Amino acid sequence: MRPRNEYAEPYRIKMVESIHLPEESRREEAIREAGLNLFNLDSSDVYVDLLTDSGTGAMSQEQWSAMMRGDEAYAGSRSFERLASVVRRTTGYDHLVVTHQGRGAEHLLMRSLVSEGDRIPGNMHFDTTQGHILLAGAEPVNLVIEEGRRAESDHPFKGNIDLEALEAELAAHGDRIPFVLMTITCNNNGGQPVSAENIRGAAAVASRRGIPLFFDAARFAENAYFIREREEGYGDRSPAEIAREILSLGDGCTMSAKKDGIANIGGFLALRDDELYRKAVEWQIPFEGFTTYGGLAGRDLEAVATGLGEVLEPTYLEDRLGGTRYLADLLLDEGIPIVTPPGGHGVFIDASAFLPGIPRDQFPGQALAVELYRRGGVRGVELGTAAFGRTDPDTGETIYPDMELVRLAIPRRTYTDRHLAHVARTVARVWANRDGIRGLKMTYEAPVLRHFTARYEWV
Ligand code: F0G
Repeated sequence: MRPRNEYAEPYRIKMVESIHLPEESRREEAIREAGLNLFNLDSSDVYVDLLTDSGTGAMSQEQWSAMMRGDEAYAGSRSFERLASVVRRTTGYDHLVVTHQGRGAEHLLMRSLVSEGDRIPGNMHFDTTQGHILLAGAEPVNLVIEEGRRAESDHPFKGNIDLEALEAELAAHGDRIPFVLMTITCNNNGGQPVSAENIRGAAAVASRRGIPLFFDAARFAENAYFIREREEGYGDRSPAEIAREILSLGDGCTMSAKKDGIANIGGFLALRDDELYRKAVEWQIPFEGFTTYGGLAGRDLEAVATGLGEVLEPTYLEDRLGGTRYLADLLLDEGIPIVTPPGGHGVFIDASAFLPGIPRDQFPGQALAVELYRRGGVRGVELGTAAFGRTDPDTGETIYPDMELVRLAIPRRTYTDRHLAHVARTVARVWANRDGIRGLKMTYEAPVLRHFTARYEWV
């Protein structure tokens, strides 16, 4: 197995958490009890947990010490002031609306700006964003470029929006479009970045029609580093400068601080406009809490304020994206089909190519995710028909998503190269035995967001 020797480790370990690989017999028992759904597993039954990179990262000693200084005042907390000034400096937006996590910010944005019958175009909305758009009675419109819908395309910015399609959407429905939303990086198709040029293009198209542009900035720092690595003219700029330039093209952002805030919980809406800020606060107070805490403890505000600084350090980002690339390279060495080039926060396995014999209505991604757990105690997540498939209300037919993926999301600063090597060995073992893998049928399904609670059986 290749070593990852191109990168110097930018930290050492000060506190450890014991984990172990459960016996095979226990894994078999656990996955059956879980109804073949990895969301139902106890974390103590999992060895390497790549379910999500959300809130699962390791905090630094600076974050932990800042937490001890958290000001727990209900009103006028110093910790809020500190976070507000970091957010202003990082994003360039004047107003901070704190929320308990990213979806809280999405909720406030929709409440403030969206009416029934509206349309919200973007590159590709994340599930919770799509959920909040639908809850507001509006229609999510995903306009990612064609290359972004193909696992094997090697386009460097597979999160880009199709500018012609955006232009056409705004021309046809401009009066029903309260804003355009760009998700940086684009989670659902592989953590793929959006180029600065594409963002400038989207901003120009929107501003010609007087339509605001917002960002889902959950992984904005990773996106900035991809721009630095891949886009001409950015190689000498710091990630902080690039992030600031990108965000300056929009009117505000929603943020899940559980990702590029490197905190375990938290989020915010950052806004340029005074009037919109006043409106958002009207919804913030009843749903999230008073302006100076927004559903978080003062110590959480401190963790996010410190994390937002650390996430933009070049050594951190080099190690972060280097780790993802390392796991991707180990899998590519074995000939395993993954989304290339790898994105920021995880490696996405192409389950259709991995298990071509399993039809899409038998959930090839879920079948593969179950196998990774059975073979090596690795927990990933299906992002395919189970997560995104919808039943057409008119015809009753399944509408399939573009891809059947299994995401191995890498928590920040948490696992070493040896953990990642174990993951790669596990995937390779499943790959070698792929012919014996059977499809699944869903035996329980909730009406919305079914993949969280679904239960399955082997067909
Ligand atoms: N936007 C993006 C792009 C996300 O990936 C997420 C969460 C959210 C918004 C919502 O933020 O969880 O703080 O409410 N993604 C997690 C994941 C859950 O596993 O990818 P949240």
